[in-house]
Amino acid sequence: MSDNTVTHVVSFSCKEYDEQALCRVFDETIHAKYLEVPLDANTVVYAKQAKVITAFVNDDLSAPILQQLNDYGVELIALRCAGFNNVDLAEAKRLGLRVVRVPAYSPYAVAEHTIGLMLALNRKFHKAYNRVRDGNFALKGLLGFDMHGKTVGIVGAGRIGRLVGKMLKAFGCHVLIYDPYSCEACKELGIKQVELNTLFENADIITLHCPLTPESTHLINDQSIATMKKGVMLINTGRGALMDSKALIEGLKSKKIGYLGMDVFEREGALFFEDHSCEIIYDDEFERLLTFPNVLVTGHQAYFTEEALSHIAETTAQNIYEYRKQGKDSKRLLNEIEIS
Ligand code: NAI
Repeated sequence: MSDNTVTHVVSFSCKEYDEQALCRVFDETIHAKYLEVPLDANTVVYAKQAKVITAFVNDDLSAPILQQLNDYGVELIALRCAGFNNVDLAEAKRLGLRVVRVPAYSPYAVAEHTIGLMLALNRKFHKAYNRVRDGNFALKGLLGFDMHGKTVGIVGAGRIGRLVGKMLKAFGCHVLIYDPYSCEACKELGIKQVELNTLFENADIITLHCPLTPESTHLINDQSIATMKKGVMLINTGRGALMDSKALIEGLKSKKIGYLGMDVFEREGALFFEDHSCEIIYDDEFERLLTFPNVLVTGHQAYFTEEALSHIAETTAQNIYEYRKQGKDSKRLLNEIEIS
């Protein structure tokens, strides 16, 4: 691709709000096709003639799909998200496909939503909203606790995890953090870095902000839950498969888990971002989780702010322009995912 030619870009899982944000930043050299459908074996055909595709969190970028994209002549996969657990990176490398992402669109959006889930679960806003509208002003069942003085454990000391820590320090919480790497910035924030088991054993609230990798898959499982405080609050705005849903159900039934807030779910690809309100939902574990009064689920909306949408669109456009300028055989692009 040379700098001044027209570039065909096909965007999958592209809702109206994504399209509007992308339209604002793509210039006339981008011939864009915006598709609401997710990328999968049935829809990959729409990538024919595209040099670039853009994709989101639940799009299927497994080996067979990558192979087909490559056959169609796609050169660049521009993820409109930070996480890349849905991409077979080894296959992308083998095929010579370049993969770029938006490393941080708004850590504030996700951090603020995380705090929102904690507060809503603690003070039971979801229950209070319905009660008051029904003329029921009784407080029984709405008892909360002071955040002040509680110990919060953060898993993952990246951009979002550190921000959550900073916000919780302002509440007067004791903040512990676990990350495989040493976090200098955490020390400056007064956040104590500890081993994972220490965090699990001591935290009243545990919140997940690490990427989904083979090591972190089902980090929250029967064994880890057994080591936690009785009545612990668990929050996950990271990726669904960081938690084993079966273990969550058992933990909730035994009251070991006192509160559960999730913005992500391990099989969310079949559910989230679409209206299924007139259909039967066949995921029994998901439905069981929704029956608990102390569970609050949002549908992967933590990132969903105006600022984040603009930032995603801007960075996606910059990623495409940079690739076009540098060419197919260029050195590593600014937001390219390193494939070892
Ligand atoms: P980041 O890359 O800045 O930080 C991730 C941190 O996790 C790094 O410090 C890394 O060393 C650490 N880490 C890696 N493996 C770990 C493990 N096994 N245990 C503990 N820590 C580990 O990422 P950022 O921007 O803070 O995002 C974190 C995650 O949040 C993303 O990977 C993504 O999955 C999720 N996310 C969710 C969104 C939503 O809307 N719900 C939106 C954006 C991100």
